[in-house]
Amino acid sequence: MEKIAIASDHGGFDLKENIIAYLIKKGLEVDNFGAHSADSVDYPDYGIKLAQAIIDKKFVRGILICGTGVGMSIVVNRFPGIRGTLCSDVYTAKMCREHNDSNILIMGGRVIDVSLAIEILETWLNTEFEGGRHQRRLDKINQIETNLKTK
Ligand code: RB5
Repeated sequence: MEKIAIASDHGGFDLKENIIAYLIKKGLEVDNFGAHSADSVDYPDYGIKLAQAIIDKKFVRGILICGTGVGMSIVVNRFPGIRGTLCSDVYTAKMCREHNDSNILIMGGRVIDVSLAIEILETWLNTEFEGGRHQRRLDKINQIETNLKTK
């Protein structure tokens, strides 16, 4: 069974704890990368740790939460091969899997409540990438990364 990695800063701590409890109740395996309390921390530390674990193929997908989700989005999308998608609604959660092959779900703990976050999470977990023309578009993004490396 797929193991899910999750991390947050203090702004996402409460929502992260709720989501972990939900996933465990569902019988899923969860690896909690912290933060382990609501004390103030720096979101890049947690975003970097989780993105790196995905790059290293320790996990296929992960979940990141900060206050708005914006900081985590900025951090993880610096990593080639990471497609972190900030979701505050179910439609975006569906589309970012079907069209963008999202591998990190990002949410704002100060933006959405637990029940909406769980709906978003369920949709994101259960939606497959469509490939085809969407893969062609992702290939163009990957090409940017390749071009930057060879400059
Ligand atoms: C922390 O106060 C807050 O800045 C952080 O959680 C996040 O929202 C940053 O984008």
